Amino acid sequence: MRSDLYILVIGLSVTKIYALAFAVLALTANIANANRQLAVRNGCMGCHADTEYDAPTWPELAAKYQRYQGQADAASIQGNQLRQGKLFKNIKAHRKLSQNNATDLMQWIIDGAN
Ligand code: HEC
Repeated sequence: MRSDLYILVIGLSVTKIYALAFAVLALTANIANANRQLAVRNGCMGCHADTEYDAPTWPELAAKYQRYQGQADAASIQGNQLRQGKLFKNIKAHRKLSQNNATDLMQWIIDGAN
């Protein structure tokens, strides 16, 4: 009787652990997806995905920005710079971004742009 109960308890917690692991996985997958979706919604794909524009690809950008990994303010600083643009390289899609979206997109790029 006692060991039955024990097995039941173990069974329950294993299921819980699986459920938890699954929830975490689903959540992280969702976050990554949300940012790729954000890039789609903000028209970033037209130039940075596989097109004929002379814009760096996502893997190239991810490689360039990976050095900011683990730096808390990097995404918002880089996002702000992206919005401001550079001399002679003022891209409307960059300028149109809100600071929040620019930060989220830069965080996505810093994390590998997957
Ligand atoms: C009209 C084409 C176009 C669109 C749309 C576009 N980009 Fe760009 N982007 C470029 C070009 C060209 C460059 C390279 C020139 C430069 O560095 O400014 C660039 C550079 C970048 C860089 C690197 C900047 C640097 O100096 O390292 C990032 C990051 C970036 N884009 C993100 C985005 C995001 C996020 C979006 C969507 C909101 C987006 N781009 C939309 C053309 C585009």
